[in-house]
Amino acid sequence: ARVDKGGYKHFMAKEIAEQPVVMTEVLGHYVKSDGIQFPNQDIDFKSINRLTMVACGTAYYACFVAKYWFEQLAGLPVEIDVASEFRYREPPITSGTAALFVSQSGETADTLAALRYCAGKADKIIAVVNVPESSIARESDVVLPILAGVEVGVASTKAFTNQLMTLAVLALEAAHQRGRLTDAELGDYLENLRSLPGILNTALGIETRCEEISLKLAEARDILFLGRGRMYPLALEGALKLKEISYIHAEAYASGELKHGPIALVDQHVPVIVIAPRDDLFDKTVSNMQEVMARGGRVLLVTDQKGAEEAGDGVWETLIMPEVDAFFAPILYAVPAQMLAYYTAVAKGTDVDQPRNLAKSVTVE
Ligand code: G6P
Repeated sequence: ARVDKGGYKHFMAKEIAEQPVVMTEVLGHYVKSDGIQFPNQDIDFKSINRLTMVACGTAYYACFVAKYWFEQLAGLPVEIDVASEFRYREPPITSGTAALFVSQSGETADTLAALRYCAGKADKIIAVVNVPESSIARESDVVLPILAGVEVGVASTKAFTNQLMTLAVLALEAAHQRGRLTDAELGDYLENLRSLPGILNTALGIETRCEEISLKLAEARDILFLGRGRMYPLALEGALKLKEISYIHAEAYASGELKHGPIALVDQHVPVIVIAPRDDLFDKTVSNMQEVMARGGRVLLVTDQKGAEEAGDGVWETLIMPEVDAFFAPILYAVPAQMLAYYTAVAKGTDVDQPRNLAKSVTVE
């Protein structure tokens, strides 16, 4: 089917706006009234004692978020790696390992090579893909489509959120099978997951604020992103999106690493974007933020209402997100990561859907 921009200025804007719809789609596919279902797929997490997740680019950051979920919910040790490193590292694949590959296109050369390395070594090869006829899907034992629909923008948006939705369901299934979640607890988590498309729809309302703030970000030469715990991968994704389409140099750090290097870069010219919903690690992030402000740094705090109140004075800009269950907050906080990059690129007048030097799918090494 031919896809058009449907009235939006760019495919990326359209694909950001489509997220609540495609999230609902993928949830409906995997979550039924009586619980989780993986149609026609056999996944036994009781015999698995280790999960290796491999991908490139944005798909790799989806793996990074999922690592927190699988470890915390299912008690399953998770290793993540970018495919280009994994494939030549000769990593030992021990018995009881499931290898999971995340790829929008299902054709990324390095990811496919990493999968082939695991074939015959891993107990199970699982693919989380947007294109079910792809090479990566064909060569896997278990295929989980993310049902995001065609994604045209080179910078991945709705595929990322649907990768996260699929991996969240998979982590819940693993936790349930491994006796880490009772039926009732699983039900509560699924309830939270079901509320996400609606909350994300509300979060799209930050658009005007993102547009305003991005006019200022567009002036910067360097931008730092900070996040802690599950929000660290979101900081990485925010920096990646910004580099990809606005060509501004952006780097992400785990908040706690700030004092081990990047704080040396902080002055009034470097905006520092702190991604921090009011969760159990919030206070720690606030103290990192204060270290930035004490050095004249300009902090853009992306948080919720309570977080904004507790953060106190001195913040340069605040972007207020709707309240969300802390566990699945990374899915919601994809929106500011995407929109800040998008509007900064628009302000700079770059080619948002076809950024220079980048390809939608990298099928050569
Ligand atoms: C390219 C794209 C990214 C994507 C990455 C992995 O770099 O520009 O948006 O995240 O490839 O692609 P895949 O199709 O394997 O998810």
